[in-house]
Amino acid sequence: IKRITTNTLQKMKSQGEKISMLTAYDFSFAKTFDGAGIDVILVGDSASNVMAGHETTLPITLDQMIYHASSVIRGVSRALVVVDLPFGCYQGNSKEALISAVRIMKETGAHAVKLEGGEEILESVKRIVAAGIPVMGHLGLTPQSIYKFGTYTVRAREEAEANKLRNDAKLLEQAGAFAAVLEKIPAQLAKEVSESLIIPTIGIGAGKHCDGQVLVMHDMLGINTEFKPRFLRQYLNLNEQITGAVQHYIRDVKSNDFPNDQEQY
Ligand code: KIV
Ligand code: NA
Repeated sequence: IKRITTNTLQKMKSQGEKISMLTAYDFSFAKTFDGAGIDVILVGDSASNVMAGHETTLPITLDQMIYHASSVIRGVSRALVVVDLPFGCYQGNSKEALISAVRIMKETGAHAVKLEGGEEILESVKRIVAAGIPVMGHLGLTPQSIYKFGTYTVRAREEAEANKLRNDAKLLEQAGAFAAVLEKIPAQLAKEVSESLIIPTIGIGAGKHCDGQVLVMHDMLGINTEFKPRFLRQYLNLNEQITGAVQHYIRDVKSNDFPNDQEQY
């Protein structure tokens, strides 16, 4: 099978084929998603929430991201694997940003990194790209800045913030980013930005006009059932199914049904 590269994604945009992206954090799910044909796997710092149980993405460390990413990469033979640079290992220091990105590439075998922000992190983006590492941008509701926003509501509804986002998207493209995530912004703004950029946009809560879509695996599989924003389409209710299976197992153990004569040596 032919590997997905940043060039493949660019080609998909020019040919009008939408890009599919999901998060994954471990070997087994990554292997299943890759086998199902997903284009891009994001080792998101949402691992901080769905894997570690933190309230925000801020606590996860670079070492923890490297552990998740190296597990994911061992399950993948086709998808492009992108890894989030976590909070505190790139903001305000392009040298540290480069060192962090290099660690991810060397220690995990992943194919690209993702950074949140526009103009503020431009020097970091340029420096990482100059080192030969593909960079994905992330604009709109950037969860590492949640304490600045103070709310998880839709971003860039006001003209000033929308204009900054338009400008940031252009700057990221000019700095050499190969794609940009647009999170929780009005569909009309995402459409405009997607049309104005050569590089593909990947939306989450950003409407149908993005060049691709991304969801957090725990949300779309219904493992996490507390999080139900309007933009989420839930494809399974795994929490319910797993609860049923576990309760069935408990009953079987308690009733001496499991293991039976065929299930022993
Ligand atoms: O960490 C993450 O899961 C993400 C996606 C939601 C884009 O950054
Ligand atoms: Na993220």
